[in-house]
Amino acid sequence: MLEPPGKPITSLYVHVPFCAQKCSYCAFFSEASSGDLINRYVSALIRELELLAPDLRPGTVFFGGGTPSILNLRQWEEILSAMQRLNLLGSAEWTVECNPATVSLDKAKLLKDSGVNRISMGVQSLNEDLLNRLGRVHSREMAFKSWDILRRAGFNNLNLDLMFAIPGQTLDVWRDTLIEATALQSEHISSYEVIYEEDTPLFHQMKAVQVDVNEDLACAMYEELVDHATRAGLVQYEVANFARDRSEAPTDLLTDRGWTVPLPSHACLHNVNYWRGGSFHGAGPSATSYVRGVRTKNWSNTALYCEQLEQGRRAIESTEILSPLARAGETAAFGLRMPAGWPFEDFLRITGHDLRDEWASDLRELTSNGWGHIDERRFHLTRRGLRFADAAAQLFLR
Ligand SMILES: C[S@@+](CC[C@H](N)C(=O)[O-])C[C@H]1O[C@@H](n2cnc3c(N)ncnc32)[C@H](O)[C@@H]1O
Ligand code: SF4
Repeated sequence: MLEPPGKPITSLYVHVPFCAQKCSYCAFFSEASSGDLINRYVSALIRELELLAPDLRPGTVFFGGGTPSILNLRQWEEILSAMQRLNLLGSAEWTVECNPATVSLDKAKLLKDSGVNRISMGVQSLNEDLLNRLGRVHSREMAFKSWDILRRAGFNNLNLDLMFAIPGQTLDVWRDTLIEATALQSEHISSYEVIYEEDTPLFHQMKAVQVDVNEDLACAMYEELVDHATRAGLVQYEVANFARDRSEAPTDLLTDRGWTVPLPSHACLHNVNYWRGGSFHGAGPSATSYVRGVRTKNWSNTALYCEQLEQGRRAIESTEILSPLARAGETAAFGLRMPAGWPFEDFLRITGHDLRDEWASDLRELTSNGWGHIDERRFHLTRRGLRFADAAAQLFLR
């Protein structure tokens, strides 16, 4: 279902491309911060928001990175007052990603008072040795301290990012992190298996065979994650995402977007929009947008990004118009990352294609190997299939 031209887009992603220091595994576009470039970026970002604002009425906003919490109070104030001027405040869900090393009570309160109502904190591990190995800039103590600051600032919707299958991590060490992390009673946990991204220090260590990749251990860790999170009262609603369900009244966003799949009350609606094939605007270097079937990507170069916006135009590096079938295939693949899978009627309404026709043999293959389950209403991956969701997703791409 494509948003018609007159109807503004309801989802905004903002990329903040700076970090205090680069982690050894990370391929997100970000660089160690420098004061002047950050100031220049803030002005360019405001210019880009001005260009996007006429086509935006945000229901969800997500500031990701990089490390959005690295911006100082003055830089945040500039962005927030521009958003107020442009009518971009007041979204139902507004997430800001934080690194424990750059959280302060002043900043947390400013964000809270401005309408940010969800914080996602990258912790990765609560084991000091692993944090060092990953090149994280913070200690485990700092993670706990920042967590307390966020709670004191009044945030009641917090996410913790964790990683597993980290080189050197045993099952016992992972279990200890899960026990300590769930004891924090976060409303949400995201946890991904380490990906060896090309051109990262971790990738080069792996290539030089300094790192063991143990698939069985990674599987055991994933099982442990699902069990721990479930025992802690979190509901899995995506391969790597778990949220508390306090059965609060659903926001209008759910009905507006026509999602019929069940979601725990603290699911990240911004991310659900990606998995359901919705449109979104992206601002900032390297950000992608997907608007009415057209995908664009901004330059992954902060100086170039600033230069373009200083000249009054968007800093778009590439534009791709997907065929309706290719788009439907991607939407199928993303949506299957959710245990709820795809109700056939939803998929047809959103994409114009019937999952049971175009992908009939793929559905058969996945059900016969135990990765998928089909009934008259929907198709979804099983617990085993979710573990291999990336491989299953490949089948749907056209
Ligand atoms: C942009 S970062 C989160 C916020 C902040 N930059 C931080 O790291 O503290 C998004 C998340 O992606 C995950 N991530 C990044 N690179 C990864 C990789 N190579 N493999 C698995 N997970 C990764 C991490 O859990 C990370 O917290
Ligand atoms: S994981 Fe987060 S803090 Fe580390 S380099 Fe990537 S974006 Fe920066």
